Amino acid sequence: MEFRHLGRSGLVISEISYGNWITHGSQVEEEAARACVKAALDEGITTFDTADVYAGTRAEEVLGRALQGVRRESLEIFTKVYWPTGQGRNDRGLSRKHIMESINGSLRRLQTDYVDLYQAHRYDVETPLEETLRAFDDIVRQGKALYIGVSEWTADQIAAALKLADQMGFDRIVSNQPQYSALWRVIEGEVVPLSEKEGIGQIVFSPIAQGVLTGKYLPGQPPPEGSRALDPSGGNFIKRMLDDDLLTRVQELKPVAADLGLSMAQFAVAWVLQNPNVSSAIVGASRPEQVRDNVKAAGVKLDADVMKKVDDILGPVVVRDPSLTSTNAPKKRP
Ligand SMILES: NC(=O)c1ccc[n+]([C@@H]2O[C@H](COP(=O)([O-])OP(=O)(O)OC[C@H]3O[C@@H](n4cnc5c(N)ncnc54)[C@H](OP(=O)(O)O)[C@@H]3O)[C@@H](O)[C@H]2O)c1
Repeated sequence: MEFRHLGRSGLVISEISYGNWITHGSQVEEEAARACVKAALDEGITTFDTADVYAGTRAEEVLGRALQGVRRESLEIFTKVYWPTGQGRNDRGLSRKHIMESINGSLRRLQTDYVDLYQAHRYDVETPLEETLRAFDDIVRQGKALYIGVSEWTADQIAAALKLADQMGFDRIVSNQPQYSALWRVIEGEVVPLSEKEGIGQIVFSPIAQGVLTGKYLPGQPPPEGSRALDPSGGNFIKRMLDDDLLTRVQELKPVAADLGLSMAQFAVAWVLQNPNVSSAIVGASRPEQVRDNVKAAGVKLDADVMKKVDDILGPVVVRDPSLTSTNAPKKRP
């Protein structure tokens, strides 16, 4: 495993991290979840990402159990707050009330006294930014979270948070967690340049495009047995990419990866890690072999001509429009 700093902060994290969205507490049984966490630890992953909302809060419980017995200081545990965790009007968003209540629930479920990074899972248009940042700052002062980050915020939203934090003396956010892969590059236009200037690191999600960049989804054919596309909840998120032109182009990446001695999943993860503003790529896995495959992307260097080949092959299916950052952030609280 290789390690990077989280943005300009002093925190060191594994450049490949393990995330449990869709899998823990939902798509996979607890035994498989534990086996994936064990494989991640065995392979040198120290950074684990989850969220209060995953599997209706069950994902944090599963991760908490799977990490029991591991020396806490050797781990970096990340979680998030924003999406609904209950039916109540205040069981969502970034109000002071929900942040204060949700962190306590997360710590209880993760069986830990603190998380290393606490992330705003989207921007909350219904709460003043100052209220959110002050609540986060208090959580840091209470020692319940060591660092604060955001997820899928636009460059303007990140800039506003940094400005306010500097004015008010609040703890500064150190990271953003956006979607980023060879297929989805919307952060490159605005979020990355701002982040480089401000010392914000990207912890990128879905680097393998939820499995699509492994090349296992073939054009014109049904998804393979046991894959995310066939999962009742996970299937909804991957649908957009199951398009014949896109899948045909992904197949054409196979010889490029093979020439480098990389599996397609390794190639996809290595691709995002070429961006120096990326602090870590969060990979998901439904079985331990996938974790063991994907981690071999750590430390891989891809030449400029390889990067160009990827661009030429994927061509028009690559999404770059910065206005699509955070497209799934609700205009009002969900
Ligand atoms: N902040 C946010 O809003 C947000 C949103 C999404 C995700 N995330 C974070 O990012 C993490 C990763 O997201 P993701 O799961 O979409 O990432 P991903 O790594 O792009 O996709 C993971 C899925 O791809 C398939 N896969 C992975 N490696 C494979 C391999 N070697 N061979 C074949 N199939 C393979 C597996 O699904 P199957 O085996 O089921 O096909 C696996 O569950 C999440 O767990 C979460 O922590 C955050």
